[in-house]
Amino acid sequence: MGEIDEAFIQSIEHRPKSTTVDAQGIPVIDLSALNCQHCSSNSSSSVEDLIVQVGEACKNWGFFQVINHGVPSSCREKVEVASRAFFRQPSEEKRKVRRDETNSMGFYDTEHTKNVRDWKQVFDFTVENPTVVPASHEPDDVRLQEIVNRWPDYPPNFRGACEEYTREIEKLAYKLLELISLSLGLPAEKLNGFFKNQTSFMRLNYYPVCPFPHLALGVGRHKDSGALTVLSQDDVGGLEVKRKTDGEWVLVRPTPNAYIINVGDVIQVWSNDKYESVEHRVMVNSERERFSIPFFFNPSHTVMVEPLKELTSKQNPARYKPYNWGKFHTTRNISNFKKLDVENIQIHHFRI
Ligand code: OGA
Ligand code: NI
Repeated sequence: MGEIDEAFIQSIEHRPKSTTVDAQGIPVIDLSALNCQHCSSNSSSSVEDLIVQVGEACKNWGFFQVINHGVPSSCREKVEVASRAFFRQPSEEKRKVRRDETNSMGFYDTEHTKNVRDWKQVFDFTVENPTVVPASHEPDDVRLQEIVNRWPDYPPNFRGACEEYTREIEKLAYKLLELISLSLGLPAEKLNGFFKNQTSFMRLNYYPVCPFPHLALGVGRHKDSGALTVLSQDDVGGLEVKRKTDGEWVLVRPTPNAYIINVGDVIQVWSNDKYESVEHRVMVNSERERFSIPFFFNPSHTVMVEPLKELTSKQNPARYKPYNWGKFHTTRNISNFKKLDVENIQIHHFRI
C-alpha cells in the first residue's frame, strides 16, 4: 500500500488509541411514547419522563441514541443501498457531481478538519432546494446566493431515496427539537421558527478501508456547528465521543436501527451553556469500510444566534454575543474547502 500522504497524518496527541473504551453510559432513549396513536391516560406521564431523559442526556453527555423513533427502516435501507452504489463507482463518475467553490453540495473527497485531511468521501445535499445563504464570508458583503442540489444519474433511484429519507429525518429532528425545548422549560415550539428557510443538509459519509488506521482519522476531532445532528451509522463502529466527566474518548457502539443524536454549537449558545456541544471523531480501520449518514439540522441564514432571553438572568447573564448563522456557516464552509492558515471560526470567538 506504500506511503501514506502526510496530509492525513494526525499529530501524535490526536491519533486514535490502540484500545477503545465502550460508552455504556451514553443514554438510549425510547421515543415510543411520542408515536403512540391511541394514548392511554398515563401517556402524558411517559412524555414527561422522556423530557427528563432528554434533558439529562443533553446535560451530561451532549449525545444520546434514540430507538422507536418512527423513521421506517425500509426508508433508511433504501438510502443506505443507494449510498453504497454511488460510492462504489470510479472517481471519474463521482467527480461529475463534485462540489465546487460556489456550490458546496455534491461529492467531495478532500475535506480537512483542523487542517488535517479526513480519510473519507462525502456526498452532501440540502433539505430546501434551493437553499439561500450569504454569497461570501466577508462581513460587509450582503449579497445572497442560492445553493442547488446536484444529483448523480447513477444509481437511478438515488435522488428519490435521498429525498424520501430526508422528509422522515426532518420529522424526527423537529420532534427532538421540541423535546429539547420542553426540557429547557420552554414551550414545545419555541425553537421551530428559527428553522423556517433552514440551511440543514444531509451528508452521506463513506470511510474506505485505511491501511494506516493508527495515523489517520475518518473525521478529526470536532464539534458540530449547527443546532442538532441526527446520525445513522452502520454496524462497523468508529464514532468516538469525548466523555464530559473525564475527557476520555469513548466508542459509540452501533445499536441496530437507532439514531445517534448530538447537540451542536447553536443549542449550546441558545441554552447559554446548559447543554454543551461535545467533541467527537471517527476512527477508520484496515478491514472494513464504513458508511454513516448525518443530518445537520441548521437554522435559517438570517438567524442571529444568541442565548435565549428566557434562559438568562442577572445571576446567569448571556455568555455569548449574537452572531449571524449564515455568515458563520459560510466562513466554516470556505475553510473546510480550502486549507486555510488561520484557525477555523468557532463559537468561543463570540464568548463574552
Ligand atoms: C460528522 C460526524 C460521525 C460519523 O460528519 O460531523 O461527526 O460517524 N460523523 O460519521
Ligand atoms: Ni460531527
